[in-house]
Amino acid sequence: MTDFTSARVGIVFGTDTGNTEEMANRLATLFEQRGVVADVFNVTDATVAALESFDLLILGIPTWDFGGIQCDWEDFDESLRQANLSDTVVAMYGLGDQFGYGDYFVDALGWLNERILATGAQVIGAWSTEGYDFTASRAANADKSQFCGLAIDDDQQFELTDDRLARWVEQLVEEFETVTADA
Ligand SMILES: Cc1cc2nc3c(=O)[nH]c(=O)nc-3n(C[C@H](O)[C@H](O)[C@H](O)COP(=O)(O)O)c2cc1C
Repeated sequence: MTDFTSARVGIVFGTDTGNTEEMANRLATLFEQRGVVADVFNVTDATVAALESFDLLILGIPTWDFGGIQCDWEDFDESLRQANLSDTVVAMYGLGDQFGYGDYFVDALGWLNERILATGAQVIGAWSTEGYDFTASRAANADKSQFCGLAIDDDQQFELTDDRLARWVEQLVEEFETVTADA
C-alpha cells in the first residue's frame, strides 16, 4: 500500500487530565484534512485485536509522577505484551513537562516505544529534540538528538503544539507511504 487515504488509522490514548485525549482529537482532525477518518479511543477500551486491525496506529501517552507510566497504559501492559503488530505501522506521541520534570521528560513515551518494538511493529515518527530543554528522557536516543516519537509539552510550550502536530502528521504520511511501498 502506498496511498495514505486507503489506510485504516487508529489513535489510542491514555490520559489522567485530558491533555493526551485532546491531542488525539487534534491529530484526528489533521488526518481528516488529509482524507482519512481515524478511529479515536481510550486505551481503557482497547483490545489486542483492535490494535492489530489498523494499518497505522498512533499511540499517545503522558508521563506522570517522575517518569511513571500513565495508569491505564500500565493496566494494558499485559495485553500489549501479547500483541503481534508485525503488519502494523506504529507512531507514538508523549505528553510531558520539560521544566517541571526535566530529568524524566516524556519518559513514558520511551517505555511505550520499548514495548511496541517488542511487538514487531514498524515504528515511524521519530522527532528532533531541537527546541526542547530537558536534562534526561527515556524517550531520547543516546546522543539526545531525537525522541522516538513526538514530544508535546502543552504545559510549557503550548504555543508550539499546533505547529508540532501539523508537521508531525505531514511527516507520518510521508513515512507511512515510504515504508509501505518498500514492504
Ligand atoms: C504530579 C505530576 C507529575 C508529572 N510527572 C511528569 C514526569 O515525570 N515527566 C514529564 O515529562 N511530565 C510530567 N508531568 C506533566 C504531565 O505529563 C502533563 O501535564 C501532561 O500534559 C498530562 O497529560 P494528561 O492530561 O493526558 O494526563 C507531571 C505532571 C504532574 C501534575
